[in-house]
Amino acid sequence: MQTIRQLKPLRKAIAALRAGGGKIALVPTMGALHAGHMALVAEARKRGDHVVASIFVNPKQFGPAEDLSAYPRRAAKDSAMLSEGGVALLWMPDVETMYPAGFATNISVGGVSDDLDGAARPGHFDGVATVVAKLFNQVRPDVALFGEKDFQQLAVIRRMVADLDFGIEIVGVPTEREEDGLALSSRNVYLTEEERAQAKALPRALGATATAIESGSDVAEALAKARTALIEAGFQSVDYVALCDAATLAPIAALSDRPARLLAAARIGAARLIDNVSVAHRK
Ligand code: PAJ
Repeated sequence: MQTIRQLKPLRKAIAALRAGGGKIALVPTMGALHAGHMALVAEARKRGDHVVASIFVNPKQFGPAEDLSAYPRRAAKDSAMLSEGGVALLWMPDVETMYPAGFATNISVGGVSDDLDGAARPGHFDGVATVVAKLFNQVRPDVALFGEKDFQQLAVIRRMVADLDFGIEIVGVPTEREEDGLALSSRNVYLTEEERAQAKALPRALGATATAIESGSDVAEALAKARTALIEAGFQSVDYVALCDAATLAPIAALSDRPARLLAAARIGAARLIDNVSVAHRK
């Protein structure tokens, strides 16, 4: 695996991969890799001939009170995992390479970015869209893979790629979970042992709520019950539990014939956890 930190050698290396023919598949990450990231790499190997992974802890997507400085950084271990996973090229720019002095462009994807995490984390999805657009232009992949774990992020990127004619296939990969259902996340390291045990209430509440809604329960009542269950399980606060259209993420009051998604974000100890599940719609 080649590791590259500057744009010029990146362009050369990408051109060399292209010259050999075959599709380039990109897996963007912020590092602190776990089996969720590696599931994206495994899927990338199936979808492309050359897998490029990026590690960049993107300052633009962290709010002023968020965990940018505390975000786990483990380059050596990450690099070994990616190499083992069959990645051909690791793109690891530093902040000055990604955002040189004078950088002034912002990509803002309307609508789908506005609510849920967009409301709780102002500017977050602008930061994500801006860096992903840059990664796409730097690597020029044929296909790029993102986790359903960050379902709103996936929807924002699909919208941006369609709107800006990137011509890149976007693949969503199902969420990898611990045995008790907790979604793998680089931020789970912030949990104490007790909080870690309590955190399984999040996937459980989502599962129970999805089942209740699928079997005809009133949506507002089911969502309220999920919030209560999370607080009773030890979460300090719930940012949202919402039933949304799976493509636009607009809130929905009842199931229809369009795919629906149940999404939640809640705080426990020093962590803010997000998760989501599909809700079967009427055929
Ligand atoms: P990061 O949180 O490192 O996640 C990188 C990718 O891994 C994302 O597409 C995310 O959805 C996916 N992922 C994380 N946990 C997962 C899990 N348990 N199962 C499956 N996939 C999972 O998301 C980001 O970085 C950044 O916002 C980024 C897109 C790199 C832009 O900076």
